[in-house]
Amino acid sequence: MGKILIAPSILAADFANFGQEIQAIEAQGCDWVHVDVMDGHFVPNITFGPDMCKAIRPHIKTVMDVHLMIAPTDAYLKAFADAGSDYITIHVEAGPHLHRSLQLIRDLGCKVGVALNPSTPASSIEYVLDMIDLVCVMTVNPGFGGQKFIHSQIDKVKELRHMIGDRDILIEIDGGITPQTGPLMSAAGADVLVAGSAVFKGGSVDNPAPYGDNIRAIREASDAAI
Ligand code: DX5
Ligand code: ZN
Repeated sequence: MGKILIAPSILAADFANFGQEIQAIEAQGCDWVHVDVMDGHFVPNITFGPDMCKAIRPHIKTVMDVHLMIAPTDAYLKAFADAGSDYITIHVEAGPHLHRSLQLIRDLGCKVGVALNPSTPASSIEYVLDMIDLVCVMTVNPGFGGQKFIHSQIDKVKELRHMIGDRDILIEIDGGITPQTGPLMSAAGADVLVAGSAVFKGGSVDNPAPYGDNIRAIREASDAAI
């Protein structure tokens, strides 16, 4: 059993077949299922909302990790909690009252996540560290899968690892993760690696073995670098 958790993003799955795609990646050994919610306003792309999350929830046996790239957030948090989210992650940049929004996620009974865009400093969450279960470091600008990994975020992960100390907070990395970039982040202190294109490439629900090969390649390279 390795140390790094692998969370495939269904942004790279077949949108007409989420149920089977999720069953396939779980059967192939992923740890979590990462769900990218985009509103066409906070980010320049639109994906899906709480009803879709609710529809896919029965297919997820592991962990439903919901990444909200929406603004504002507060009015929608209950719907995502009711949809069965385990983690709800919101962006620091999504609204003026981060503390209030994080408290709301906690009150709804979900694990609390906060995401940082590439230009957002680690210090932006210094005063909410005791409220969160997860910090998501974006290693691409949010909005699209298949973008190039931004190397400057390695130092941010090291800084966050230091800031977190012995608190029970996971560091998640999102964007451009491959068997080459995953180890850079596990070495810097990451716990969870999100990967879309690098997990789903070459496979399908009828030919899911490549999903397993891709997950193992990221996991083994990343575990080896710890
Ligand atoms: C980007 C999303 C990511 C993305 C990762 O806005 O938050 O989860 O799908 O995709 P890849 O691994 O292809 O960069
Ligand atoms: Zn994401």
